[in-house]
Amino acid sequence: MNALAVERHSPLPKRVDLVLIGARGRVGSAFRQRLQACHADLVRGLNIDLRLRAAMDRRGLAERMDGLDPIALDGALRPRSAGDIEALWLHLGRASSTVLIDCTASDEVAGHYPQWLRRGFAIAAANKHAGARPLAFYRDLQQAAQSTPWRYETTVGAAIPILGPLRDLRLRGEQVLGIRGLLSGSLSFLLARLHQGARFSQAVMEARELGYTEPDPLEDLGGEDVARKLLILGREAGFELEPDQIGVNPLTPIRGVSGPALEPALAAEDDAWATRIAAAEAAGQRLVVVGEVGPEGGSVGVQSLSADDALASASPRENVLQIRTALQHQPALTLRGPGAGAEVTAAGVFSDVLALAQQLAR
Ligand SMILES: NC(=O)c1ccc[n+]([C@@H]2O[C@H](COP(=O)([O-])OP(=O)(O)OC[C@H]3O[C@@H](n4cnc5c(N)ncnc54)[C@H](OP(=O)(O)O)[C@@H]3O)[C@@H](O)[C@H]2O)c1
Repeated sequence: MNALAVERHSPLPKRVDLVLIGARGRVGSAFRQRLQACHADLVRGLNIDLRLRAAMDRRGLAERMDGLDPIALDGALRPRSAGDIEALWLHLGRASSTVLIDCTASDEVAGHYPQWLRRGFAIAAANKHAGARPLAFYRDLQQAAQSTPWRYETTVGAAIPILGPLRDLRLRGEQVLGIRGLLSGSLSFLLARLHQGARFSQAVMEARELGYTEPDPLEDLGGEDVARKLLILGREAGFELEPDQIGVNPLTPIRGVSGPALEPALAAEDDAWATRIAAAEAAGQRLVVVGEVGPEGGSVGVQSLSADDALASASPRENVLQIRTALQHQPALTLRGPGAGAEVTAAGVFSDVLALAQQLAR
């Protein structure tokens, strides 16, 4: 019998509809592949029938009552039109078994979550924006999520289970004192490549080509992406922080440059980075981008660490998280693993969707 087999089966599988936002992005596409690959096993093992009821991005929208083919989506997508999302919500009807999956990096999309949750749509998000908005929004969102669940495990550390364990620490009354870590797979890849001799501009382009950076790599280089993760982590640990309580030291002052202009703009900093790397190596150290957060706030920036520090010895793409609690501080509780990549992120999103689907199917 399949490993997913469970104790109880009803004759008809419970249908759970999925609406995928960001359907043709890197994570969204990897999610569709996984849905296709796992669908039959989930029907057999969990008695749950996940249907891709609708899919969209900024350019197109597709909807089908009996479910879209997750792989052959291009032909089904039609150009977006005004009011199409509202019309979709009306078509979806009874929302109690629908999961919205946000695979965008859009603040605008995240702004709709409280309203969507209150309409009864569960949400699984790789998008960090909702968890990193000002506290008033975050509190409203958490309140809305008390009746309909919102899961966002992949917003920090991709598929490494971090937020669930952190929540458990808080719930069991284990006071979290502070969190320190390497929270960006793309930046740990970038600095590892610099220590291997790559030029700064070249390493950024490589990270983007490999799908490790945010859609806009300047979000990684500006430190905003790590700052958002620190806010999400800090709030999960019980620290009531506003976004301006996370100090950010960007890796580059360049802002607002995209497309073909980005690489030459970054190349202007190649020599300065080569000098910094050489100075760190001469001192037996390595440069890493460290994020830290505690009850009073946090910071993100480049630090020069002794080569034997756990954060300095991480492999490219790796995330390392050290959580100090009142019970566990010497050594700190440490979680580590691959923290970037569309496929690993989509696998984590899929876990969130499965958890929600099982909850809805009950
Ligand atoms: N890649 C990773 O390693 C990784 C790791 C952890 C977390 N994440 C998170 O996963 C999310 C997706 O990342 P990605 O690498 O897949 O990005 P991506 O390849 O750029 O895809 C983004 C997708 O979102 C769509 N989109 C953007 N704004 C939208 C809007 N307002 N309405 C509807 N669709 C919209 C885009 O549509 P168009 O193409 O039409 O513009 C595109 O399909 C991000 O939040 C990222 O932080 C990624």
